[in-house]
Amino acid sequence: MKRHFLICVAAGALVCSWPSQTATAQTTRQITPSNVFAPGEIWREISGKPINAHGGGMLFHEGTYYWYGEIKEGRTWAPEANRSWGGTRVMALGVSCYSSTNLYDWKFEAIALPATTNEPSHDLHTSKVIERPKVIYNRTTKKFVMWMHIDSEDYAAARSGVAVSEKPGGPFTYLGSFRPDAGVWPENVTDTNKQPSDHNPLARDFAGGQMARDMTVFLDDDEKAYQFYASEDNATMHVSLLSDDYLRLAGKYCRIFIGRSMEAPAVFKRNGKYYLIASDCTGWAPNAARSAAADSIWGPWTELGNPWEGAEAAISFNTQSSYVLPVQGQNDKFIFVADRWISTNLPDSRYIWLPLRFGANGKPELRWQSNWSLPAAHSARSSRE
Ligand code: GAL
Repeated sequence: MKRHFLICVAAGALVCSWPSQTATAQTTRQITPSNVFAPGEIWREISGKPINAHGGGMLFHEGTYYWYGEIKEGRTWAPEANRSWGGTRVMALGVSCYSSTNLYDWKFEAIALPATTNEPSHDLHTSKVIERPKVIYNRTTKKFVMWMHIDSEDYAAARSGVAVSEKPGGPFTYLGSFRPDAGVWPENVTDTNKQPSDHNPLARDFAGGQMARDMTVFLDDDEKAYQFYASEDNATMHVSLLSDDYLRLAGKYCRIFIGRSMEAPAVFKRNGKYYLIASDCTGWAPNAARSAAADSIWGPWTELGNPWEGAEAAISFNTQSSYVLPVQGQNDKFIFVADRWISTNLPDSRYIWLPLRFGANGKPELRWQSNWSLPAAHSARSSRE
């Protein structure tokens, strides 16, 4: 695909607009800090403090975008149990929420789901793991439902957590965590899958529930919602239907990307097709991203390869996927939302937002841009909500 950019000059920096297949005009316009994305730079909320919302998920509701993420603050250390694979951590402090109407300027709303310090066995205790929070809105119950990865410090618990709120900024009420789909075989189970063996985590975890680590939730056009999570010792992903109130699982799931060890799933829909961008499984260290498409959310999913192009594609320009955000009021515009983890100083990890492009066969494509902007007509209020 040919590249066209609107070139804008601001404070000595080159700023590129959303890549368009038709835009050819060269224009000069005034750039203020609030209409440029600068991936990898410190991103401050309007009060001036760096945004603290890692592994984030986005919600668009009544003209406002909400950004939920992991609060990473304080000292980074490597617990003994995680040293072999480089699993550093900070104290879990809960889930933050920021709001914006233009996607550039963010206001801290609240700690939507705080951690607790006084009950060491509680899922939300600061010693635990609270990662990749995602929030969806249930139009029937009018509740905001947060799903997240809950774990023990050594990541052995591998559970899904759920919280619910009347308002997007919280406070969210924590409902608890569980291992998904206990006692239920996946739709695409085979007889071999049911045979217990040391190398068969699906059968091993059948009774107690399947492992759930890196996850996302996806809300479809028909209001059905799904959780995607890395399961079976992270080797295989599961996609699982949520109940109508989104507070639990409905008991229907499929195994996808069997044995492909995919993490950090971000799912979106474009022209009636489902897409997924994910990472390989290398902890905080970057790797070559994956992409895939499917006509049905249950699969079959066809892998489309690494969406990244350019010199650092093999390490995804030092990023890991977190979410794909459809831009409201703009046709066919999606933002790739990712983290650039700094494993030795996790609070200094950065956000990488880039426009997603699509190749001839619909393959998602990503190219590094150090500055870029949304098309000028962008308005959050012009969307269907
Ligand atoms: C990554 C995962 C992150 C976090 C990290 C811990 O693979 O995507 O969300 O769990 O491992 O090392």
